[in-house]
Amino acid sequence: MSKLLYIKANAKAEGESRTFQISDSFIETYKANNPDDEVIELDLYDAGLQFLPKGKMNELREAVMKEDKQHPVLKFAYQFAEADKYVIAEPIWNLGLPAILKAYVDYVAISGITFAYTEHGPVGLLKNKKALNIITRGGDYSSEPMESLEMADKYLRNIFGFMGITDFTTIATDRLDIITEDTAALLSDAKEKAKEEALAF
Ligand SMILES: Cc1cc2nc3c(=O)[nH]c(=O)nc-3n(C[C@H](O)[C@H](O)[C@H](O)COP(=O)(O)O)c2cc1C
Repeated sequence: MSKLLYIKANAKAEGESRTFQISDSFIETYKANNPDDEVIELDLYDAGLQFLPKGKMNELREAVMKEDKQHPVLKFAYQFAEADKYVIAEPIWNLGLPAILKAYVDYVAISGITFAYTEHGPVGLLKNKKALNIITRGGDYSSEPMESLEMADKYLRNIFGFMGITDFTTIATDRLDIITEDTAALLSDAKEKAKEEALAF
């Protein structure tokens, strides 16, 4: 039995977000195909994610030393470390991650839990795990010059790799805000891709 953590990062409500339409298609198929797996839904807005608290970094270090799994920040890092699979649903915002998703990364990339500093430099502690990033974008980042500007999927891939999660796949849906596009068709294709990916994930 695997534990899948479904991380949702969008200010739009359920039903309004096109990203969530795609990721929900994935989750629905995944659940049907893996009825014994545990799927944990983590909507970062509903979870009340904040920035790392000011003046409390020493307290955070002490909590890591004590392995305090109930600590309001560390509980997210432990939950992350305990998952086997990750599905992230995010729109690109201003060429990068929605800020709440970056705040979440700051909660989970904690030395001593998800990575460690060694004499050879930092090493990821999370092994044999896999991630899928379901990302949507208003524009088109599939070729240059836009491709180089894209910092949302690239950043997430890098930071997951830093924590040891190198099996990282992306389903990117571009052009959702280009008014001449048939966005219904783009969404329908993306949902099909997501369902296909769910069968093998
Ligand atoms: C604050 C904000 C910033 C955005 N920045 C970008 C951007 O840099 N590049 C882009 O292609 N689309 C950008 N968009 C458009 C969204 O990425 C796009 O509408 C979204 O992926 C569609 O999915 P959704 O319906 O789930 O929000 C931005 C949207 C918002 C609200």
